[in-house]
Amino acid sequence: MTSPVRLALLGCGTVGSDVVRLLHEQSADLAARIGAPLEIAGIAVRRLGRDRGDLPVDPALFTTDPLGLIKRDDVDVVVEVVGGIEPARTWLVEALRAGKSVVTANKALLAEDGATLHDAAAEGGADLYYEASVAGAIPLLRPLRESLHGDRINRVTGIVNGTTNFILSAMDATGAGFAEALEEATELGYAEADPTADVEGFDAAAKAAILASLAFHTRVTAADVHREGITEVTAADVASAKAMGCTIKLLCIAARGADAAGRETVSVRVHPAMIPLTHPLAGVGDAFNAVFVEAEAAGQLMFYGRGAGGAPTASAVLGDVVAVARNRLAGVHAASESAYADLPVRPMGEALTRYHISLDVADRPGVLEAVAGVFARHEVSIATVRQGPAGGGSDAELVIVTHVAPDAALAATVGELRGLDIVRSVTSVLRVEGGA
Ligand SMILES: NC(=O)c1ccc[n+]([C@@H]2O[C@H](COP(=O)([O-])OP(=O)(O)OC[C@H]3O[C@@H](n4cnc5c(N)ncnc54)[C@H](OP(=O)(O)O)[C@@H]3O)[C@@H](O)[C@H]2O)c1
Repeated sequence: MTSPVRLALLGCGTVGSDVVRLLHEQSADLAARIGAPLEIAGIAVRRLGRDRGDLPVDPALFTTDPLGLIKRDDVDVVVEVVGGIEPARTWLVEALRAGKSVVTANKALLAEDGATLHDAAAEGGADLYYEASVAGAIPLLRPLRESLHGDRINRVTGIVNGTTNFILSAMDATGAGFAEALEEATELGYAEADPTADVEGFDAAAKAAILASLAFHTRVTAADVHREGITEVTAADVASAKAMGCTIKLLCIAARGADAAGRETVSVRVHPAMIPLTHPLAGVGDAFNAVFVEAEAAGQLMFYGRGAGGAPTASAVLGDVVAVARNRLAGVHAASESAYADLPVRPMGEALTRYHISLDVADRPGVLEAVAGVFARHEVSIATVRQGPAGGGSDAELVIVTHVAPDAALAATVGELRGLDIVRSVTSVLRVEGGA
């Protein structure tokens, strides 16, 4: 058999330790599939003395010098499962420029500065694969980057953060508030001790940037993504959604559009939204992820599975390792980044969306007309109005769902409604996606 393909593993935590386990357990099959055995040349970690249980690996392979490991002549492929922007960027640029292929799960780095990595890969003639960076085990980036390259993708809508999906699913199932559902998620290990990156939508925004870049052949960074988390979603919002035959999900939405001059644009956003129970994403519960792709010729496609966890993520990492190892043996590397479309990113205010608004209003003649007048002034067309008695005394509840309008016009409408003396309170404002 051909000489081994030698890996430098950077990181041996949740994902890295499962990469080591899978490499050990599947070594014979992996060698047969690649045409050469895979060998671990070294494993860079932060703490040499950390207890790593019964990891099936020679302890002498561990080092605290990632750069030294990457530069070794006997390293062919670098697998990065550390995370963060620096020093990961420095390590990966070093590897790629030296012609060593990189497999990484680092969504934060790819979303913030993927261009630097892609440029380094092109410069070094090396592969840069990152399937594990979005939606864990789900094969998603390869289909976008290869299988759908003959098609034109118009929209990608996804649930790409398991923690927030677990919390929203729990709120929907039990009627719990956000804080209570977060506590349950933390107890069960679905939320980190500091859940900010998940509940404030940073993690989903990074994934949205990566998905949009691949789907539309353009460069979108995390800073281009409009981001709202789920901390403001209340039990009352969830009840309102239920009353409409909907559920609330934290969605990442990347869509083609056009500006006023007819120039093609993309809009990329992450926010909670109501979707009808009939939508394919509505049934995605617990910590699962799913991504719904709408393409011109292929039509609607749905990708579903486990978006995180050591073994599922390691599965995606290993799939990439097999691909880059095969390329290496064949003396080829995959096509580099496809960003030729160079589309401008549309500001959120211009994104077309719909709102569901619940108002607690004074129960007297003329209220409906006054409220409708606010919508008309902002050129927002009302799709449905439902009226019912509110909880207290002389008030009534109005539930209004709009047609599609620019987000800025919808936000201005809500702002003006809040200022009306006949509006006691705006009890819930949610965007609506997916044809409710
Ligand atoms: N966990 C998931 O479910 C999941 C899913 C998808 C993607 N990812 C991505 O995968 C990557 C790794 O995540 P993880 O959950 O496995 O993280 P983790 O459990 O915190 O492990 C991080 C590893 O990196 C090592 N490390 C940290 N700083 C280092 C440094 N300066 N030099 C050398 N080694 C260093 C740590 O060493 P010690 O062991 O000595 O502390 C540890 O082994 C991240 O980019 C993450 O976003 C994770």
